[in-house]
Amino acid sequence: MRNNSKLNAGWTFAAGFDAAWVNTPLAGDTVTLPHNAVDLPLNYFDETAYQRAFTYQRELAWDDAWTDREVELRFDAAMADAVVWCNGVEIIRHADGYTPFAARLTPHLTRGINRITVRIDGSENPEIPPFGGRIDYLTYAGIYRDVWLRVLPRAHLRNAKIETPDVLAADKTVKITVTSEAASGTAEAVILDATGAEIARATGAITDNRAEINLTGLQNIALWSTETPVLYTAQITLDSGDKTLTRFGFRQIDWTAKGFLLNGKPLKLRGLNRHQSFPYSGYAQGKRAQERDAEILRHDLGCNIVRTSHYPQSSYFLDRCDEIGLLVFEEIPGWQHIGGAKWQDESIQNVARMIERDWNHPSIIIWGVRINESMDAHDFYIRTNAAARALDTTRPTGGVRYITESELLEDVYTMNDFVLGEFELPGNNRPRTALRTQAEVTGLPNPVPYIITEYNGHMFPTKAGDPEAHQAEHVIRHLEVLNAAHADPQIAGCIGWCMYDYNTHKDFGAGDRICHHGVMTIFREPKFAAYAYSSQKPASEGIVMEPVTVWARGERNIGGVLPLIVLTNCDEVELAFADVVKRVGPDVERFGHLPNPPVIIDHRHFSPDELGHWGQSWHGGRITGFLNGEKVAERLFPGDSVPTTLEILPDSTEAEADASAEIRVIFRALDQAGNKMLFLNEPLTLQVEGPAKVIGPETTVLAGGTSGVWLRLTGAVGQITLLVTSPRFGTQSVTLQAVPPQPQNKLQTFAL
Ligand code: GAL
Repeated sequence: MRNNSKLNAGWTFAAGFDAAWVNTPLAGDTVTLPHNAVDLPLNYFDETAYQRAFTYQRELAWDDAWTDREVELRFDAAMADAVVWCNGVEIIRHADGYTPFAARLTPHLTRGINRITVRIDGSENPEIPPFGGRIDYLTYAGIYRDVWLRVLPRAHLRNAKIETPDVLAADKTVKITVTSEAASGTAEAVILDATGAEIARATGAITDNRAEINLTGLQNIALWSTETPVLYTAQITLDSGDKTLTRFGFRQIDWTAKGFLLNGKPLKLRGLNRHQSFPYSGYAQGKRAQERDAEILRHDLGCNIVRTSHYPQSSYFLDRCDEIGLLVFEEIPGWQHIGGAKWQDESIQNVARMIERDWNHPSIIIWGVRINESMDAHDFYIRTNAAARALDTTRPTGGVRYITESELLEDVYTMNDFVLGEFELPGNNRPRTALRTQAEVTGLPNPVPYIITEYNGHMFPTKAGDPEAHQAEHVIRHLEVLNAAHADPQIAGCIGWCMYDYNTHKDFGAGDRICHHGVMTIFREPKFAAYAYSSQKPASEGIVMEPVTVWARGERNIGGVLPLIVLTNCDEVELAFADVVKRVGPDVERFGHLPNPPVIIDHRHFSPDELGHWGQSWHGGRITGFLNGEKVAERLFPGDSVPTTLEILPDSTEAEADASAEIRVIFRALDQAGNKMLFLNEPLTLQVEGPAKVIGPETTVLAGGTSGVWLRLTGAVGQITLLVTSPRFGTQSVTLQAVPPQPQNKLQTFAL
């Protein structure tokens, strides 16, 4: 058996690095991983603060159970350039901030206290992707993912690639390629279903550290899909007793010139780009926070795809995508800039590390093997494509570009199409256009598999507290692209820029070091544009009806609330104002290709007199949603909105008492009818009682009527009370429970 336990607690951390430190106890703070070397303010910070060296150290006491075993530390990731020493001996350097690496301790351990020292260098080293040019995001330094202590039989399993050829045949097949430290012997695979019941079993002989196990004739297998993400597990055992568990799914993907097919059925891909950053804590958030982002994308926003822009993201995030049916476009690190020969060699390694870590995720449907938005680079991209194809023949390559008529070396032409904003460019003659056709972009004589990987973003930055008219335009631009992508069978789908606002370098953003490009805030609270996505879900997955309004006489130019966009999956919406009541259906003329076009109420439905004029009394309104004639949703908008409630909304009220875990809590200022008060910039003071700490400052300010916080647990079991005090709302509180954690012994295979 292998033993694989988290080694997140008990690290000492200090800024800087000195060669003498690898041999002596480090003077510093005690920290728990995931750890962010420098917590930045929410905005207006100096991003060079973390661009230097830091040191982590941990003592490891010898354990007799290690006798005759392999002992290694697996780092899930450290940014950006890590070197590990054991008892003063350098073991490994890993110059890739996004993928795992293992430090093999075995030959260096003594039967006493062992000292592990890790230097991480957060500098933007131009020899390491994505650095060397400018990048529109931050790469916060630190050991920002988990570290595992693995105690393994000498002959242990290294990696397993699980393929499911010919998935649509009645009888299913599984082909497992095992790589192991054992040169010979046998590898056995048992396939288990979601309940743990055995489905099939087979063995393969190991030759030259490699075995192939074929399981055929599997019956009653459920396919993995976005709607039914059924997972199976392969339990692989070697003669040495080493045993691992790896999850996988049975699904077929086809990228064609006429769109994408999942299990033989057309599926229009609709999604958003995700960075992996958080306010204050940078990249350093644990399992639950990673999983939650996937859930928000799939369940709250109704997306069926995410792009991990612009690097491999947490395995916890990808695992959750597998579990909830969120497809993934994963790509190598990089942003516009291609470096020199050494940099390019590292990038080829990035391709291999990404694929070997992630090839068993059924959610991943394409590998991005170009540097995001770089120019064509024939020789380099021949290499990245070859590297990907050599490792995985089951998924296509793509490579994100914004240039037209670029050389297509990949299987799928993947394009950031920002044309919609171009009508505003001086001297531009093009009429307002949501998306170009693929023929116009590719310049190729024949259609090819094609997907839109970004749009909007910097072409229309929008803050949650921006004026209503600006937010309405933000909504319309997302709807226009979604509609155009749904309209064109030669476009497999579209992935918008982006899920939430993110911290960035001085060269980007609103001068405050934030790119306000999200359909959600940096705390993952929806702006109106979020509902352009969520309203596309079928009503059976939850009714959505979000009127894009603050409901006021004088918020817009000329006044009033028309045209009023209602983002909804209802089939009719009724607006009642004073004593006038009108029912309006979806705007199929303008947005007829969408699964659920918005309802747009304007002067076709209400005459100016019916809504009153500037200087006349302003009234409340009632908006009601109907489905098949039944009332399914109602929103009231008072004509005299006043702050009434501070809503405090934790993601969960219970969590395992793990010092690597966080709970997000959202705050919303609501009026008497429960509507968010977009312009109430009230300060909130936070105080925690019990085993948790606030990440970031203990004062926050509502912006766009909302703010949020992540609480980091201390690891102790007990009750946590978060008290929130503000001038308007007094003190409110919420109570959470940190409950005893489950034992940790993760048997998953880990590729290196
Ligand atoms: C793209 C880029 C993204 C982000 C976006 C903003 O050019 O790929 O990372 O910067 O623009 O719209």
